[in-house]
Amino acid sequence: MRTSSTRWAGLRAALARLIAAIVVTTGIVALDVASSVAHAADSARESVAILGTGRVGAALGPRLAALGHPVIYGSREPQRADVQALVARSGARASAASIAEAVARADWVLIALPWTATESTLRTVDLAGKLVIDPTNALRFVPATGYMEMAVETSAAERIADLAPRARLVKAFNTLGAHVMADPAAAGGPVTVPLVGDDAAAKARVGTLVRELGFEAQDLGPLRHARQLEGMALLYMVPLLKGPRTDVFEYHLRRGTAPVRSQGVRPAE
Ligand SMILES: NC(=O)c1ccc[n+]([C@@H]2O[C@H](COP(=O)([O-])OP(=O)(O)OC[C@H]3O[C@@H](n4cnc5c(N)ncnc54)[C@H](OP(=O)(O)O)[C@@H]3O)[C@@H](O)[C@H]2O)c1
Repeated sequence: MRTSSTRWAGLRAALARLIAAIVVTTGIVALDVASSVAHAADSARESVAILGTGRVGAALGPRLAALGHPVIYGSREPQRADVQALVARSGARASAASIAEAVARADWVLIALPWTATESTLRTVDLAGKLVIDPTNALRFVPATGYMEMAVETSAAERIADLAPRARLVKAFNTLGAHVMADPAAAGGPVTVPLVGDDAAAKARVGTLVRELGFEAQDLGPLRHARQLEGMALLYMVPLLKGPRTDVFEYHLRRGTAPVRSQGVRPAE
């Protein structure tokens, strides 16, 4: 006859086996769900039209492709040898096409055009509903001073918004050099990519992309702040234009703390 303590030990062992079975089964289910979600996310990666195959296009294109985005380079000469070499560098799903075709085929559009060509080019395409990333700077070089100046009253981003009011426009990547876009490690430390835009969901999505590319993202408000971001680009250029090269810097916004009453400072109203 079994004692009550042996019966209790048997019950505990059965309970332990049951819990182990539940943990294993749910673990496998969770793993299955996680892997199918990851697979679905990868196969659903947004296609990106990159307009322009210069420094910015060639820096970000291969990196977006490496993240799994099908990249379509929009070029004035898609068959040109250097454009085809860039396509080859961007993996099997990359291609090159005319600007209009690239935009038509893509979910997202990255405007990697000189400011002087941006407005005329965008007049030829329909950006309605597309998530548009704008790294352009409406700056011009002033030979008399050796510095840059703003070329418009507002900003490149606001002029783009006027041309494409139904685009989901986010300004990003305009405050760092193409060499850092290509290789964040080249900066020798963390780099912040400020974001402005009026479409919160689009801005959040670009923020995720910025982090995937190895940068920190900082939301700095609405699109009307774009002129300030373009001013940051103007200042970024100072040591690059006039030197000394040892003064070259990157923008990195260190996390701070909000002011508190105990600091003896009147809180902002
Ligand atoms: N370079 C940087 O470090 C940097 C950093 C931050 C922001 N930005 C901004 O990003 C934008 C792109 O800069 P980027 O340095 O990549 O320019 P870029 O090297 O001059 O390349 C621009 C590309 O745009 C295409 N394009 C179309 N129309 C053009 C025209 N009329 N003239 C010249 N090119 C034309 C060309 O590609 P196809 O020949 O294939 O058509 C060209 O390779 C600019 O607005 C710039 O202010 C640049």
